[in-house]
This record gives sequence, structure tokens and C-alpha cells, in this order.
Amino acid sequence: MIKVQARLRSIKCIVAPRNFRSEHKLVYTETRPMPRKRLGHELLSLIVRKEGGEMWTEEFMNAVQPTVTALSVLCTVFIIRALWNWQTAGLGFRSIPSKGSLGWPIVGETLSLFRCAGDSTFERWVGERIQKYGTMFKSHVFLHPSIVMTTTEEVKFVLDDPHKQMRNGAPESLKRVLGRSSIFALDGKEYRDIYKFLNDSVLMPKLKPKTAEFNRLIRHSLSSWEGHTVDIPEAMQKIIVKILTFNFFLIPWQGETADQITPLIQTAVQGTTSVPIYFPGTTFYKASNARRKLDQILLPIIRELRSAESGGSSNYASLAEKFPFKNLFDYEMNGESISDAAVCDVLMTPILTGSLGPSTVVALAIYHLTENPSMLQKAQAEVDQLRKQKEELGETDLSVSDLKDLKYLTQVYNEVLRISTIIPGIVRLANTDIHFNGNVIPKDWLMLTPFVMVHMDPETYPDPSKFNPDRFEAPPNPGKFFPFGRGLRACVGRDLTKLVVLMALYHILSDFTWDVVSCSGKLKYLPALQMIGGYRLSIKSRT
Ligand code: HEM
Repeated sequence: MIKVQARLRSIKCIVAPRNFRSEHKLVYTETRPMPRKRLGHELLSLIVRKEGGEMWTEEFMNAVQPTVTALSVLCTVFIIRALWNWQTAGLGFRSIPSKGSLGWPIVGETLSLFRCAGDSTFERWVGERIQKYGTMFKSHVFLHPSIVMTTTEEVKFVLDDPHKQMRNGAPESLKRVLGRSSIFALDGKEYRDIYKFLNDSVLMPKLKPKTAEFNRLIRHSLSSWEGHTVDIPEAMQKIIVKILTFNFFLIPWQGETADQITPLIQTAVQGTTSVPIYFPGTTFYKASNARRKLDQILLPIIRELRSAESGGSSNYASLAEKFPFKNLFDYEMNGESISDAAVCDVLMTPILTGSLGPSTVVALAIYHLTENPSMLQKAQAEVDQLRKQKEELGETDLSVSDLKDLKYLTQVYNEVLRISTIIPGIVRLANTDIHFNGNVIPKDWLMLTPFVMVHMDPETYPDPSKFNPDRFEAPPNPGKFFPFGRGLRACVGRDLTKLVVLMALYHILSDFTWDVVSCSGKLKYLPALQMIGGYRLSIKSRT
């Protein structure tokens, strides 16, 4: 078997005699121009001779070159074919929507989607494809062949999953940062049990007894704003994290633990939709380490609470009384008593999932009110009227029953959720071939539902890019407005978000006026919509 070695200036192709040894000698080299359109380089040809033996000449090289070229072409075709088969596994070319593009092998269209999510032009990514391919089209994202479904009817079909044919399609990074027992990583009975458990624990009736503490926490945090320049999204995120860690772990919001936890949660959250490469410097690496440190802080608390719950000695005996999630200790997961680490996953998930959205909503509400002075005046008048009523009763806290008196502020809240859909859409995986409107969504394909498109549909919301709280004078139509998703997997934090956002806006509007110091005007998605580059206000007292 013989190979000959030649070297091109910029392409290296190895063609060396397999039996090339020290007794071989390079006897002749020559550099000759090749036709530019073939190679665009010069060929350096080698002629090798064994001492006293045979010589492989340029003629020989010319003879083997077509074979080498043919083999390279075959290999390339084979690799592309294999990648294509992998990418479209299970496809079988049934009646899937024929329009759309699967993009590049393996990565598909993920990079372009990430790019648009990074500068919040996700709607454009979808919009351009709707123009080209129609409302339902194929793509390939997050390592899966996918169908993107964009109309209200299509999105509702996926969210409602009427025939129970879908499972969660959460990205790997989310599952790994949130943990194996997180609601995002569970399926079947365990998923349903944990969902019900979490959902029931943060619905409005369960939040009522906590409003006094939430009010105190918000007022205490706001008390340091007066006379300072405050970056609203960042300051609000700190407040929300404290509310959530108090709610789920009973962590006192003042003190060392709360101060340690907040930056760790912020770092972990950013890694939930990153590329899951555990390598120093990557977002995923930082998030995974932050999650580990959070476990180191929270696991001992869980152990103490469990010990107190089972009658053992514990420093947390008095807290355990109030711990709203103690039933979780009796839960059996995969036929075994739930572990402390799994309890940590279950309770940490809503904190990590819910820490960004509400702070962005508060910041955007302030932004839109500031840009529209007549709306700000109207909202402030409503807040002042309620505050006066409460003062007459000797009250300062906002209670759950007060929310109905904040009608205009609730409209502002809904309009922010519509115009800036915080979670732009959800992903599900098909458990089986799913038939929908004459199409088949093949088993294991991903379904992407950008419900941001539903909220910007001009037929439902005329002039959709205009911030107009008056469009929600009548309560939102649940069939055309789902910032929190809907159906069996609807966001468990929807009531908590409404309560906390309105509470924060109530206290901010009644206590402060402000001047804008800087506003980058930049938003990005992933993991949820967030204002980046700062929205800094110089805060003054209203009185
Ligand atoms: C503006 C604020 C928020 C928005 C817009 C929002 C939106 C959403 C959406 C769209 C989903 C996906 C529903 C689905 O898969 O069909 C979701 C899931 C979830 N949200 Fe929220 N959310 C917010 C705040 C919160 C808060 C404060 C919490 C914590 C209490 C929370 C906890 C969760 C959890 C645990 C899930 C997973 C539900 C599941 O997989 O079944 N969210 N949220």
C-alpha cells in the first residue's frame, strides 16, 4: 500500500508512503503553479526514493489523485448524510409542514434564534419566517427538529395539549441548573403532584397571610432609595429574590443569609438558558457553581426543618411550625421518601424561575408611565385616593382585597405584560405523532409557540406597538392573552407576581417622584425579558 505526500500552501494533504522510514530519501521537490480555478495554490511535489530502491514519481501522484479526490467526496457525502439523518431522526417525511428551513446540520437555526433573543428581536425572527413560510413552519432549534406554531389557535393547541400528547421541552441547561427533581425535569405523576403542590401554595388565598411581611420588606427596601440614583431593574430584582426566598425557605430578608443568596441566585438564573458546557468562564459553569453554593446554604436549613418536623431537636423548631411546605417531607418520589436535595430542587425552582419576570414588569411599568405623563398622573391619582382611604382607617399596608381598587394600575400591569411578553413562548416535545389541522408533528419533534405573536396580533390589539392601558378597561380575554401560559402547566407564580408587582408600584408611586438619569433602552430575552444596561432614576420624596 502506498501513499504519497504532497503539501499545498494552505491545504495540507497527506499522501506519504506508509513504509516511509529513515532510509528513504527526499530526492526531488518542485513547486509548480496549479490552475487557479482548481486549487488556487501551488503544488509542492515530492519524490521519495528508498536507498537503492524504487522511486515514486509525480506520474504516480497524478495517478492516485483522482482516487483520493473521489474518496474525499464520498466521505464528505457520507458525513453530511449521517448528520442529516440524525437531525431529522423520526421524520420519515410524513405530512409535516413542508415549508421552513432546518438550517445547518446539528445547530440548525439555534444561533440565529439566540442572536435575536439576545437583542429582543425574537418577534422579527418569527415574523420574517411567517412571511416566507406561513404561520406554521419547520425549523431546527435546541438540537431538535421543530415546528413553530404562531397563530392564537395553534398556540392554544400546544398550551392546552387536549389529547395529552406532549411533554416539557425545557432546555438541558435549565434542567441541570434547576436540578433533577425540579418541576422542569419531572414528567408524569411526579410532575403533576409537584405542580399541584407548588401551585396551591402560591395562589392568592395562601398569600393573604403573608402580605404584611411582603409590605414590610418592600417598604424597608424602598426606604433607602430616597435621595439616591437607583437602577430600578437591579434594585427590584433584589427585592423579589428576598420575597421569594422568604416565601419558599422562610429566610429572614434582613441578614447575612439573604445577602449571600441574592447574587448567587442572579448568577444561577443567567445560566438556565445557556449552552450547557461546564468549562471555566462559561455562563453555565458560573451558574452551576452558584447553584452548588446555594445548596450548601439551603440544604442545612432543609435538614433542620425536617428534623424539627419529625420531632428531633432543631434550631429551627419555631420556624418549622410556620414552614408552609412541610407536607413535602412526606412525599414519595420514585417510590422513596423524598431526599433533602430533591426538596431543595423543588423549592429552589420557583425562586430561580420567578426572580427576573416581576422585577422587569415593575421597571417597564415605571418606564412606560414616565414616558406617558398623563398615564402617570392617572395612576398616581388612583394610588393617592386609595392611600387616603387607608390612612383614614389607620392602615399603610396594601392588602389582597385592595387590589380591586387599583383598577388603572392593573390595566397598566396587563398592558406591560402584553406589549413586553416576559416569557416569549414555551417549548413542548411530541410524545407521539401529533395530528393537527392536516399536518403531522412527528414524535420527538419540538413545538415552539411564540405567544409573543398572539399579544402583538393587530386584529386583537389594534396598533399593537402602542402602550395603551385603556385597551384593558375590560378584563383581558383569557383566550387571547396568556403571559403566564395557560392550562395544566400555567405559571404557578401568576398570583404572586400580580400581588408583588402591584404592591411595589403602589408604594413607589405613593412615596416618590423621579428624574431619569439614564436609560439604555435595551432589552434582551433569555432566560426572561430583562432591561439591560441600566434604567437609572434619581429618586425624590413626593411629600
Ligand atoms: C412576570 C412574571 C412571570 C411570567 C411572565 C411567568 C411566565 C411563565 C410562563 C409562560 C411559564 C410556562 C408555562 C408553560 O410551560 O406552559 C411559567 C412557568 C413557571 N413559572 Fe412563571 N412567570 C412569572 C413569574 C413567576 C414567579 C414569580 C414564579 C414563582 C413563584 C414562577 C414560577 C414558575 C414555575 C415554577 C413554572 C413552571 C411550571 C411548569 O413547568 O409546569 N413564575 N411562567
